Amino acid sequence: MKILLLGSSGNIGCELRVSLRDMGKLFMPSRTESDFTDETILRTLIRDIKPDWIINAAAYTNVEKAESECELATQVNAKAVQILGEEAARLNCWLVHYSTDYVFDGQKPDLYLEEDPVGPLCHYAKTKAAGEQLLRTTGCKHLILRTSWVYSIHRENFPMTILKLSETRDQLTVVNDQTGAPTGAVLIADATAHCLKKIEADPTRSYSGTYHLAASGATNWYDYAKMLLKEIEKRGRKIKTQTISPTSTEAYGAKALRPKNSRLNTTKFQTTFEYTLPDWQAGVLEFADSITR
Ligand SMILES: NC(=O)c1ccc[n+]([C@@H]2O[C@H](COP(=O)([O-])OP(=O)(O)OC[C@H]3O[C@@H](n4cnc5c(N)ncnc54)[C@H](OP(=O)(O)O)[C@@H]3O)[C@@H](O)[C@H]2O)c1
Repeated sequence: MKILLLGSSGNIGCELRVSLRDMGKLFMPSRTESDFTDETILRTLIRDIKPDWIINAAAYTNVEKAESECELATQVNAKAVQILGEEAARLNCWLVHYSTDYVFDGQKPDLYLEEDPVGPLCHYAKTKAAGEQLLRTTGCKHLILRTSWVYSIHRENFPMTILKLSETRDQLTVVNDQTGAPTGAVLIADATAHCLKKIEADPTRSYSGTYHLAASGATNWYDYAKMLLKEIEKRGRKIKTQTISPTSTEAYGAKALRPKNSRLNTTKFQTTFEYTLPDWQAGVLEFADSITR
């Protein structure tokens, strides 16, 4: 089985390198070799490799910067995804694509279901919602896996930023009015590898579609930061931060709007793929172990 992994240097991509390692011949082109802003490079790469699976962990993920780099974000998160879908349809290969809780407007009082209408609030979210829709129209076999609040030990993300700041600052201020599930890239990669195995084992069943793949339970950024620093200190790491104060999204004043409610209902994923998604705290404990090791 040939697997083409795109975005293998990202949070999820780094963990996929490990989870997919023994599942077949893994192709991991560099960013230049798989430039999402160059249609010819992207199409030629896929046509040359002729993969059985394309796993797309590449994306334009800087939510704030996307407000001013609209065109680039659209190219990477929407137009290139359509190209991947078209090539996958042409080869009759599977395309796994990651999307985000940010496609929703956060107004629903309950957990979001896959079929709930999208209502992206910021440009990044609009490009991700557009990417999903363009992919569906190509008719390729696909899994759109919407996830939330992704972190890993490999690059910049919320817990890595909090840790860095906690080394130099006495006090931190973190928003407490956005709710969601921090989801480790380790979990996402493991669950993705599980999906590939399930589908390969039962190729006649129709798995194609959109799924919510996130850790169970929910929290807000403020409580998440508090738990993280407590666990880091428990493991003997010295931190400077004495106080973490809650603030509102409004007072924090980010340029890009985020949904207040990011909670995803993951029942469809868990039942279809017979995979239990653990509580978000389990991933944070694992993260604390790994980063202090
Ligand atoms: N991060 C989150 O909180 C979050 C939440 C929900 C959903 N998601 C979704 O999950 C997926 C993966 O996110 P992540 O956090 O793992 O992303 P990430 O860490 O930012 O990694 C993005 C990857 O895409 C590559 N890339 C960026 N621009 C490219 C281009 N023009 N051509 C080719 N490759 C390019 C990057 O290469 P370089 O290493 O060269 O930059 C990197 O390998 C994305 O679809 C994202 O929308 C993320």
